[in-house]
Amino acid sequence: MHKIWLDTDPGFDDWLAMLMLSANLDVNWLGVSVVAGNAPLATTYDNALRIKQHYQLDVPVYAGCEKPLAGSIETAQSILGQAGMATTGDALPQVDIAELEARQSQQLQRSPLPHAVDAMIEAIRLHAGEITLMCIAPLTNVAIALQRAPEIATMVKEIILMGGSADQGNHTAAAEFNIFADPEAADVVFQSGIPLRMFGLNLCRQLLVTADEVQQVRALGTPRARWLAGYFDAYLRIRSPDGSVPMPMYDPAVAIWLKRPELFSFRSARVDIELQGRLTRGMTVCEFRVPRRAPANTEVAMTVDGPRAMQCMMQELLGTLS
Ligand code: BDR
Ligand code: CA
Repeated sequence: MHKIWLDTDPGFDDWLAMLMLSANLDVNWLGVSVVAGNAPLATTYDNALRIKQHYQLDVPVYAGCEKPLAGSIETAQSILGQAGMATTGDALPQVDIAELEARQSQQLQRSPLPHAVDAMIEAIRLHAGEITLMCIAPLTNVAIALQRAPEIATMVKEIILMGGSADQGNHTAAAEFNIFADPEAADVVFQSGIPLRMFGLNLCRQLLVTADEVQQVRALGTPRARWLAGYFDAYLRIRSPDGSVPMPMYDPAVAIWLKRPELFSFRSARVDIELQGRLTRGMTVCEFRVPRRAPANTEVAMTVDGPRAMQCMMQELLGTLS
């Protein structure tokens, strides 16, 4: 059984990763910390609560950091729209945040609700040695937790993260969005000594959603299948107006690994974050050569059986969605 704490910024693909986590019976899902990333915190927190409410997820959700350790926040709203969800076809029903928070306070018998960073620190202490942090967003919350309570670094079993790349970036030529959005935080995490497993863009580009696949899902004809097909239609149209260009899946990669680890291969590397480069700020510099400048700190995901992994994702999502 995996004890998972999720750090997220929903987020079109965070949404799918959350649904996959809730469907995985081998996951004991302890909590969710939300951070600014795809959109400002107010929006990502609202999205997370909408997802929790709509799918009746039995997991506490906490609001975290609003801005990166240095500089100002750069969201992905220019690509994903104001809500940061990329899909307008099937907006999630609105929620009354104050009411949901009051209910959560009552369930947890805590008022006010703690900040996400404090909730994460408490969970790590409570499940010392057993907890895995699944990070699919800028790493601000995790970095602040490590700065506030450095001893937790020895208590985390592993960090499994979507971020970075062993080759090209997406937000810039060199940098992937989650790392670019808060490179200083990523630097804290990659230097923390916590075992890291990185699912970067080099891996996610092997997880392709295609128009044919979406058609197959739609042809199933159930309400869930129609919802999912609509979701992917909108996602595919980000890149091409007719949706004909395949699109990679990002955050679900980590959830797929939790379910089907045998589909993936990894290489050990020393990964450091570029903080200075004029063109390369936020790059994950992966040193695979041996001997290295410094000991390996990361298992970098290199290959995945794409078709099987996508099948696993679709099955999980078709089984969960209402
Ligand atoms: C990552 O950036 C965000 O836009 C996605 O949610 C994902 O976590 C991909 O680069
Ligand atoms: Ca994300």
